[in-house]
Amino acid sequence: MDKVSPIGVFDSGYGGLTILREIVKRLPDYDYIYLGDNARAPYGSRSYETVYNYTLESVKWLFDQNCPLIILACNTASAKALRTIQQNDLPLFGPNRRVLGVIRPTAEIIGNFTNSGNIAILGTKGTIQSNSYVLEVEKFFPNLHIYQHACPMWVPLIENNEHHSAGAAYFIQKELEQVINAAGDLDAVLLACTHYPLISRQIESFLPEGIKVISQGNIVAKSLEDYLRRHAEINAALSKKKTIRFFTTDDPGDFDRHSLNFFGSSINSSYVQLSSP
Ligand code: DGL
Repeated sequence: MDKVSPIGVFDSGYGGLTILREIVKRLPDYDYIYLGDNARAPYGSRSYETVYNYTLESVKWLFDQNCPLIILACNTASAKALRTIQQNDLPLFGPNRRVLGVIRPTAEIIGNFTNSGNIAILGTKGTIQSNSYVLEVEKFFPNLHIYQHACPMWVPLIENNEHHSAGAAYFIQKELEQVINAAGDLDAVLLACTHYPLISRQIESFLPEGIKVISQGNIVAKSLEDYLRRHAEINAALSKKKTIRFFTTDDPGDFDRHSLNFFGSSINSSYVQLSSP
């Protein structure tokens, strides 16, 4: 196979597949390479330094695979590592290399989903504590009232394929009750973690009618399409042979079995070692 210059898509584990799936639907001609750092997931409760170090290692690996453009399809990594990587590390990789996240494109349009002006943002502890959403959304929708809430049990339940269990229902309902009680006149809930679309049905079932549940896949895919239209030099550097390769830092068999739920079609991943866990 001729050398490809794919779009790199990174997540701590499986969650980024919900983003990749929508990107591939919208931009089917490009080449893609997905990296899930499953061996070290979840990232949600890890420190800034750890999330930054793990994300940077993954970014370096994806650049080594000849990616001109990388999407951090992980809110936690976007919140805790993206800015430092863009400002401090990217210049060292040479010109025409880009890393983008999922927070900015979501913040740019989130206000369009609400009439009441009240939204809830659900994410990992890391994403919520970073306050990144509030800071980004303020730039585009200064009057929006945001209630943020961390749901620390949800990613481990999803990563362990327990998200349809009675135990999961308990934890999903418990968090949402707190959101409903605290957030007031809500009409939109943003799933600001790329794992959460896997439980969007359960989330909807525990929310009062009329509250929209928003996943990011489509938002990020559309924003990427716009970005490539505006950045001809990056677009030209990306190969378009319609290949998709998957890599995981943990067991590929597990990854392939699990991925069906996230990606919607079967995949065949390979193992990669980034460093000792
Ligand atoms: N899926 C990721 C996110 O969007 C990270 C989940 C985790 O590793 O905790 O935040």
